[in-house]
Amino acid sequence: MSALRFDGRVAIVTGAGNGLGRSHALLLASLGAKVVVNDLGGGAHGDGKSSSAADKVVAEIIAAGGQAVANYDSVENGQAIVQTALDAFGTVDIVINNAGILRDVSFAKMTQADWDLILKVHLTGSMSVSHAAWPIMREKAYGRIIMTTSAAGIYGNFGQANYCAAKLGLAGLANCLAEEGRSKNIHVNTIAPLAASRLTETIMPPDLLAMLKPEAVSPLVAWLCHEDCPETKGLFEVGAGYIAKLRWERTEGYQFNGLKPFSVDDVARRWSTITDFSQSTHPTSTTESFMPIMEKANHPSLGGNEFIDLDAAAKAE
Ligand code: NAI
Repeated sequence: MSALRFDGRVAIVTGAGNGLGRSHALLLASLGAKVVVNDLGGGAHGDGKSSSAADKVVAEIIAAGGQAVANYDSVENGQAIVQTALDAFGTVDIVINNAGILRDVSFAKMTQADWDLILKVHLTGSMSVSHAAWPIMREKAYGRIIMTTSAAGIYGNFGQANYCAAKLGLAGLANCLAEEGRSKNIHVNTIAPLAASRLTETIMPPDLLAMLKPEAVSPLVAWLCHEDCPETKGLFEVGAGYIAKLRWERTEGYQFNGLKPFSVDDVARRWSTITDFSQSTHPTSTTESFMPIMEKANHPSLGGNEFIDLDAAAKAE
């Protein structure tokens, strides 16, 4: 029996008719959340439509004594999905953006339609549902949002230009929403899961798939959605019981005098210093990103004027 409960909380889980979304929905419902089980009920490549995927998960939740309603809209129609939560449960506290499809193809063969569809479902869809829930969360000064990215997006993967772009776009969206939501107690975190599902069953061997249960991803998602969890703007890799956090790393770099011309040869000469991670830092915001650059550039030895107010300059950015 879990000590952390979600009684009174309303959660929307997109793409909850199968795989990871189903597992997130079942877990949250078992811990007391009222759940909107959204699923278009299409195929893994974005074809077709059916209400049965969402209906089955709703039936499972109700049979186990939980509360859930189905929604069959595509995630691009976020307003309709949030309306289902309002009609059934009166509010929304948690949005888990999980729905997804694949259109894997090498960049040379990718069509505009392959690109548009993947961007629409993953990136626009997650924006649309989050955007519709945003004013409700701001108004009540409470919200928990999850974005589902992928190792393919973070590290790049052959044959997935559309998917990689959409998935890393989601991390960028999360980073912005985490900043905008900070003062309103809206936390936004991103997961890069690995789990057996119809999206992975064709590309991994059965013995490996058996280890990759969606249920091994959902506890992290639930924790990130809990009111006690202080985490926001986090990015996590999760699968088969492994959970780890990622962050940016920046080399110490090399400072040329920005007021004097420097050449491509100068850049080439300093390349080993520019790319040397032995003295690295881990900036977490645009302010932290710009400060050292501005501090160095502002030094009198480099022609700068130390009386320039760097704090004000960073805030103006
Ligand atoms: P899945 O195919 O089992 O489940 C995805 C669900 O989303 C399906 O039920 C589908 O009907 C639904 N869906 C698709 N388009 C929709 C739309 N426009 N509106 C509403 N629902 C829609 O796949 P899985 O593996 O559970 O994937 C869930 C998420 O996790 C996806 O975003 C995927 O990209 C991501 N992911 C999964 C990984 C894995 O190892 N399974 C790896 C990295 C990321």
